[in-house]
Amino acid sequence: MKVGLVGWRGMVGSVLLQRMQEENDFAGIEPVFFTTSQAGQPAPMNAGTLKDASDISELKKLDVIITCQGGDYTKAVRPQLAQAGWKGYWIDAASTLRMENDAVIILDPVNRNVIDAALDKGIKDYIGGNCTVSLMLMGLGGLFRSGLVEWVSSMTYQAASGAGAPNMRELLSQMGVLQNSVADLLAQPSSAILEIDRKVTATLRSDVLPTKEFGFPLAGNVLPWIDREVEDGQSREEWKGYAETNKILGTKSPIPVDGICVRVGAMRCHSQALTIKLVKDVPIADIEQIIANDNQWAKLVPNTKAASLEGLTPAAVSGSLTVPVGRVRKMKMGPEYLSAFTCGDQLLWGAAEPLRRMLQILKE
Ligand code: HSE
Repeated sequence: MKVGLVGWRGMVGSVLLQRMQEENDFAGIEPVFFTTSQAGQPAPMNAGTLKDASDISELKKLDVIITCQGGDYTKAVRPQLAQAGWKGYWIDAASTLRMENDAVIILDPVNRNVIDAALDKGIKDYIGGNCTVSLMLMGLGGLFRSGLVEWVSSMTYQAASGAGAPNMRELLSQMGVLQNSVADLLAQPSSAILEIDRKVTATLRSDVLPTKEFGFPLAGNVLPWIDREVEDGQSREEWKGYAETNKILGTKSPIPVDGICVRVGAMRCHSQALTIKLVKDVPIADIEQIIANDNQWAKLVPNTKAASLEGLTPAAVSGSLTVPVGRVRKMKMGPEYLSAFTCGDQLLWGAAEPLRRMLQILKE
């Protein structure tokens, strides 16, 4: 199987390559590495030389193309390959094709049935989902599939990595500038906290804070809007919650999913606080079992302060495939209202992992 890799040098692509190496995914395939700027230079893993990512005749030779190059590349190249009669499989991290009728959103621990049905039908485009949606479903897919969910409100706490690698750097630079702006006062235990706060706020509002990527401070701040405005006052990130959840699950009557997506100063783990309206009053122990037994990565965290602060945070989860789900309890609104909090690495299950697993499915 000849597999082309495009965009493997970027952040998601690098995580993908690392995961493929860890899992020995390169066994049984012939990798071909593509580049948008350095064709002819040596490829990694002694895989010959880098090929030009816009060279349709080279791309056409492949059985599978995995791209983390981004939406503009998908828009430019996928139609050309179709026009050239290419019949291979296209595995893509970008959102461009996600909602197309002849594309499937891949999250196989949750929707292997949808993927298998699409393969049988001859569908060729397999697209990674929005990170927030994928992470919610890795944690709570069992509950959705059990038919117990009437609707979900998801309030997110999304990490800087979702906006890109330069944004992660900017967040840290902002943190450094803020710390520096009051370093002398922090060094004196007797200094007044309101003086420190005044200076930090002045720095947050000044030009000295680097904001080229986010446009605003993220350190010491929260940003209650992600991606562009769409309709009905929703952001595009919020719109994806409903659209992609239902497409992934292949629901016949769509389950409403809505909420507010917020950027916070975490590095690479997206968290979300969920209010779930159940179709009926289900005992909490049954709900916990459904969550814990759904897939090997979802992990139920007991609803205690100690366990939540220990295991249900970006700091605990970063770099891991585990998707903890905690704060599971019935809410005061009534026995059909469930709260939950979940957290996951948006570069792993939120981006790279479903792509490498799709390639493994094609190898079966
Ligand atoms: N749209 C996501 C975010 C990134 O901004 O956090 C990946 O889907």
